[in-house]
Amino acid sequence: MKFEINAKDPKSRARAGELNTDHGTIQTPIFMPVGTAGTVKAVHTRELKEDIKAQIILGNTYHLYLRPGLEILQQAGGLHKFNGWDKPILTDSGGYQVFSLSGTRKIKEEGVTFKSHIDGSKHLFTPENVMDTQRKIGADIIMAFDECTPYPCDFKYARESMEMTHRWLQRCIDRVDSTDPLYGYNQELFPIVQGSTYKDLRMQSAEVIASKNRAGNAIGGLSVGEPAEKMYEMTEIVTNILPEEKPRYLMGVGTPANILESIALGVDMLDCVMPTRNARNGMLFTSEGIINIKNEKWKDDFSPIDPAIGGYVSTFYSKAYLRHLVRSQEILAAQIASIHNLTFYLWLVKEAREKIISGEFASWKNIMVEKVSRRL
Ligand code: GUN
Repeated sequence: MKFEINAKDPKSRARAGELNTDHGTIQTPIFMPVGTAGTVKAVHTRELKEDIKAQIILGNTYHLYLRPGLEILQQAGGLHKFNGWDKPILTDSGGYQVFSLSGTRKIKEEGVTFKSHIDGSKHLFTPENVMDTQRKIGADIIMAFDECTPYPCDFKYARESMEMTHRWLQRCIDRVDSTDPLYGYNQELFPIVQGSTYKDLRMQSAEVIASKNRAGNAIGGLSVGEPAEKMYEMTEIVTNILPEEKPRYLMGVGTPANILESIALGVDMLDCVMPTRNARNGMLFTSEGIINIKNEKWKDDFSPIDPAIGGYVSTFYSKAYLRHLVRSQEILAAQIASIHNLTFYLWLVKEAREKIISGEFASWKNIMVEKVSRRL
C-alpha cells in the first residue's frame, strides 16, 4: 500500500494525497460511508459508485462475524465478492462495537467476552482471533483490536486501558505478520491511538503507534461525547506525532464542520454513521446548512434538495416531495435522504481536496464551517 502526498495547504496542516490499494486508489482527504453489516443502509452498490462517488466503504467485524458469519463470507470469497463492492473496504475491529452494542461484556488481558446483541449467545474476541476474522472478511484495511474508552474516563482507567490496547496491538501485529491474506490481495493493519482526553497519554500513545511503522495510523476514542474543542485538541496533539508520510484516519468523526476542522489538522480519512443514520430521521446536510425535512416550512418548497452539489438524487427530487415521503413513512424517503447526505459528504471532501491543491483550503474552510453548520 503506497501513500503519496500530492499537495499541502500552506496555511493549515491539511494535505491532499493518494492511497493505493489492491482494489484501487483512494483520493484523500476522504469520507468513508459506513456499511456496518456489509451494506450502506438504504443504498445500492451502484448508487454508492455512480451517484455518491464513494471510494472506500467500511464494514464492522463485530456485525459480520455474528451475521452472516465467517463460513458464509469465506464461501462467498470475501466481503467484496459477497456484496459486489469491488473498490477498497476497511473493517473496524469490533473494538468499538463490542463496547457500545453488546449487553454484558467482560474485558480481560486475553480479550473481551460478550453477548451477541442478536441472540444473546456468548463470544470471545481476542487480538489474534479478530485478526483472523478480518482476514476472512477480506477488507483491504483492517483495524487493530483496541478498547475505545468512554467519556468521561478517569486518568487511571484511561492509562491502564491505553497500555492494554498497546499490548493488544503487538499481539495483532504478531498475528497479521505471521499469516497470509486469503483472497490474493494485500491487507494492511492500521493501529489505533487511544488515551482519552489526556494530553500526556495521547502523546505517549501516538509515539507507540508511530513506532510500529505500519502503512497507516488511526486515532480512536474521540467523538464519544467530549466537547468538540477537546476532540480537536487531542487530534492536533496526535497528528503532530504520527508520521507525515502515512495516512491518518480519525475514527467515527463526524459532522461536516468536524470533518473540515479535522482535515485542517492533518487528518486524511474519516467515517461516521451520521449522514446515513440522521438521514433516516429526516436530517439533511446541505451546502447551505442543515435541514429538518419534517418541518412545515418545506411543505411547498419545490426546489431541489441541494442543486449545488450535483448528483442525481440531490438535484432531481424536491424538498417538498421528500418531506411528503418522510411524513408518509415511505421506504424511498430513507433511500433518497441517505443517498443525498452521502453525496454531500463526498462532495465536501472532494471540494476540500481541490482547495488544498489550489492552496485556498484554510480560508475556504472557515467560510464552509460556518455555512454547513447553519440550521435552515
Ligand atoms: N470507531 C470510533 N472510535 C473508535 C475507536 O476508538 N476504536 C475502534 N476500534 N473503532 C472506533
